[in-house]
Amino acid sequence: MMLQEESDLAKYCSRYSTLPDGFLLKMSENVMENHPHAHLMSDAWQGKWLEMVCRMIKPVHVLEIGTFTGFSALNMIAGMPSEGFIDTIELRQADADTAASYFKSAGVEQRINIHCGDAREIIPQMNMEWDLVFLDADKVGYIDYYELTLPKLKKGGWILADNVLFHGQVLKDEISGKNAKAIQAFNEHVAADPRTEQVIIPIRDGIMFIQKL
Ligand SMILES: C[S@@+](CC[C@H](N)C(=O)[O-])C[C@H]1O[C@@H](n2cnc3c(N)ncnc32)[C@H](O)[C@@H]1O
Repeated sequence: MMLQEESDLAKYCSRYSTLPDGFLLKMSENVMENHPHAHLMSDAWQGKWLEMVCRMIKPVHVLEIGTFTGFSALNMIAGMPSEGFIDTIELRQADADTAASYFKSAGVEQRINIHCGDAREIIPQMNMEWDLVFLDADKVGYIDYYELTLPKLKKGGWILADNVLFHGQVLKDEISGKNAKAIQAFNEHVAADPRTEQVIIPIRDGIMFIQKL
């Protein structure tokens, strides 16, 4: 659920933004029509925004935590330099398989490596240095994912954490629900961390830009 004011703002921003088209539009429509949990997918505005961030930062190696059906990964790869590649982690086999088939159809299967399983177990096995991490999995895991990825993030590298306003629930005097509480704990955790600087962008469900110092 989005706050009404926020929803109007989001609609306005979408109306005057360039949105993904071609294959990305078709695959997102397909997921919307056929997947029972389609609401988990980033929307078109966020997809284009992720592509543009990648054009600005030019990350060569990206880690995504929470692939779902691959929409955000496909948008990011569209904005990355040609030598860039993504490792993306998805817990559910069916969604990982769907994402893999979209990566193949888009002709980027050589550049997006999909790992199926729990990110908490997979990240420690990865010997990588990332330029950018897109954090978009279960909210109760955010602090773990942050702590697991930060040491492997390049100095000056970025973590983009989605849903940090959790439908506006973190603004309440008393925060209830395990996901909203987990996000609040994450926001406090990052804000108190001298290893990084961070800014929350308060649109849609809130994105936190975190940079490793
Ligand atoms: C919000 S969706 C990701 C949406 C996707 N990034 C996009 O924009 O289309 C969150 C995904 O994280 C996955 N997930 C949840 N817990 C996970 C974990 N521990 N490890 C890896 N993936 C996880 C879920 O199965 C779900 O597909």
